[in-house]
Amino acid sequence: MRTDTSPPDPVEVARCLGLVRLYPGSTGEVAALRGVDASFSSHSVTALTGPSGSGKSTLLALLAMRDRPDGGTVTVLGHDVASLSGRDRRRLARTGVTWAPQRPTDGLFPHLSAAQNLEQAARWRGAPRAEVGTLLRRLGLEEVADVRASRLSGGEQQRVAVGCACIGSPPLVLCDEPTAELDEDTAALALAALRDAARSGSAVVVATHDPDAVAASDRVVGLRHGVLGTEQAVGATVHAAIDRAGRLQLPPAALTLFPDQRAVVRVEGDRVVLEPPDRTGPADTGGERS
Ligand SMILES: Nc1ncnc2c1ncn2[C@@H]1O[C@H](COP(=O)(O)OP(=O)(O)OP(=O)(O)O)[C@@H](O)[C@H]1O
Ligand SMILES: [Mg+2]
Repeated sequence: MRTDTSPPDPVEVARCLGLVRLYPGSTGEVAALRGVDASFSSHSVTALTGPSGSGKSTLLALLAMRDRPDGGTVTVLGHDVASLSGRDRRRLARTGVTWAPQRPTDGLFPHLSAAQNLEQAARWRGAPRAEVGTLLRRLGLEEVADVRASRLSGGEQQRVAVGCACIGSPPLVLCDEPTAELDEDTAALALAALRDAARSGSAVVVATHDPDAVAASDRVVGLRHGVLGTEQAVGATVHAAIDRAGRLQLPPAALTLFPDQRAVVRVEGDRVVLEPPDRTGPADTGGERS
């Protein structure tokens, strides 16, 4: 039963059906996407995971309406993108969709300061100007607010790009590896801003290799060779079979926790704990304490 404090029901913001994207390659066409179906709803953060080259950036660029598919359809806020005029598509992109590209500088005005970049994004979306100061503070950018984007460090540029994507909580927020340039503390600030946008209603989609970004998401969608693999809610229980040799196949959301494909296995009574090696001390990895 709905109460006054329960979150609003999610609404579908974007959908892709049978998406195909082909690129010319040296030995013929490369299929970056081979028939992807996916749906993204308000009030949620989706982590888009998958190995390098699996099609994550390609999918985000299509959802951002910056590229056209070779097959299939993209629907954003109820509009079939292919049927929109260039003008309507630009208007929809400006007001309803934000895209922070994999190289943050691609999405910023280099000659404008950090604050001016955020102000520009706020104007496009009709967001209150007060949000600029709030976001600069929350992203740890107050001290560089007046520095031109071209002079900022890679991590500062990345946080400005996340701020521009989140300001005004637009319906669809697309961020391509938003924590790639960040340390643990500043990544936490960026992820908190993305979660805030989702809390305010955005459908947030984050392409990422970062286990902390996956952990901050509501669901994980895995791409492999341009095909959507498994999808699951973060924190969901999955049942996995163990083969006769004792091998266990981890679900994709768990796999991202083990980027080096190495794990420390600890038996604790009737539980088995799997951890990445860098989270355990020397005693846990079998070394002896002196
Ligand atoms: N403009 C392009 N021209 C030719 N091939 C491209 C182009 N853009 C992407 N590709 C190819 O499409 C495939 C998917 O690329 P994409 O950038 O979407 O991968 P990704 O999952 O984002 O990888 P990463 O994690 O390294 O960012 C790759 O094989 C890539 O080489
Ligand atoms: Mg990419």
